[in-house]
Amino acid sequence: MAQARRNDPATRDPMSQLLDSIGPMSDRKRRALSLAHEFMAPNRVETFLHAGVPLVIGKREGYRIWDLDGHELLDLHLNGGTYNLGHRNPEAMAALTDALTEWDVGNHHFPSEPRALLAEKLAGLVPGDLHYSVFTASGSEANDVAIKSARHATGRRKIVCLDAGFHGTTGLCGAAGNDETAQYFHCDRPEEFVKVPFNDLDAMEAALQGRDAAAVLLETIPATAGFVRPEGDYLKDVKALCERCGTLYIADEVQTGLGRTGKLWAVEQWGIEPDIMVIGKGLSAGLYPISAVLLTPSVGHWLTEKGWGYVSTFGGSEIGCQVASTVLDICNRPSTLENAGNISEYLGNGLAKLQQTHPFLKEVRRSGLVMGLQFDDPAGGLLMSSTLYKHGMWAMFAGFDFSVLQFKPGLLVDEPYCDLALAKLDAALSEIDSQRAGG
Ligand SMILES: Cc1ncc(COP(=O)(O)O)c(C=O)c1O
Repeated sequence: MAQARRNDPATRDPMSQLLDSIGPMSDRKRRALSLAHEFMAPNRVETFLHAGVPLVIGKREGYRIWDLDGHELLDLHLNGGTYNLGHRNPEAMAALTDALTEWDVGNHHFPSEPRALLAEKLAGLVPGDLHYSVFTASGSEANDVAIKSARHATGRRKIVCLDAGFHGTTGLCGAAGNDETAQYFHCDRPEEFVKVPFNDLDAMEAALQGRDAAAVLLETIPATAGFVRPEGDYLKDVKALCERCGTLYIADEVQTGLGRTGKLWAVEQWGIEPDIMVIGKGLSAGLYPISAVLLTPSVGHWLTEKGWGYVSTFGGSEIGCQVASTVLDICNRPSTLENAGNISEYLGNGLAKLQQTHPFLKEVRRSGLVMGLQFDDPAGGLLMSSTLYKHGMWAMFAGFDFSVLQFKPGLLVDEPYCDLALAKLDAALSEIDSQRAGG
């Protein structure tokens, strides 16, 4: 009797009905979705299912992922650059397994060989006088440390940031940039974080002229806003304003660093030497969490007097340090950076051709392999995400501008992979064109 009721479509719970509406799927996948819905993230699971993206990632290799039921997808999302070097990159995996033969997370109180060697390597690779590294488990924490360091160094509290910036979701960085989520949790701090629009130098000047701002915190190319490119000398002018007003410049390179623009750090494209730089995501190779904040000697002065000013059990895990060191070697190879530049041009040409046949693709924003595709519809990026999913590609819309699709090819992709990606874009655009024409 109970069994019959459970199977009766009229009495099935909403999640079961939603899962039924997706079509046939394996028991394994259905169980993963149901458990994630019941015990982890009900709203997120429902949102993806309603959007036609019933993805539970199973196998992953290189720049491809497979759903648990085998649906193959080109990965043009890369989780914000986490998989910059591909999923399960063999060199990074070798570094990880090698590290495991000798190390573990380590004890964060003590000097550590892998951590010290990584800090030395970073100091030699980053722009300007960024000297000290503080290692964290996430980009959010690294941004929190960046803000705290700027406040201590200047004795000021105010942080100027973008209204459509994203720097993570922990305490201080969650209040920076777009703070809608911080507001939801009553953790926003409007009196301390002043928001200005991107590419608006006058607004930046007005925010800084009181000479009371500790720092300007900027993503070099704002990701969640849809990879809007800095116009002209905007970034250089902001840096000059900072210098004039005694304000520090924090570059959030979590998404744009590690070779994605064709230079190791995106700020190098504009000749900026930040006072503080935050890196993460790809530093981990997607294998062991690690992020870092880099500080000039004067901004990092607190490290000389307050040894326990920032402590984190998992920050700078020794295993993660060994992986990150290999990641830096790969990203900084001339062949890697050259490939990023060549592939950017190759895709740029292909995308320009697609624009001719599909005016729905309104704008291509391209800075190396950091790309945003804007469509001629306020929800065009959302629509492309779900349409591309059916055609075998995963690329994600920009969270603060649904008209844009973030399009993030990996550093090591080749031309045949790009041809396939362009063909899938073409197919998805054709499908949308015919829907819009009422076909
Ligand atoms: C630009 C930027 N900064 C910081 C973060 C936060 O990094 P994490 O998720 O590792 O805390 C993100 C995450 O997406 C990001 O895109």
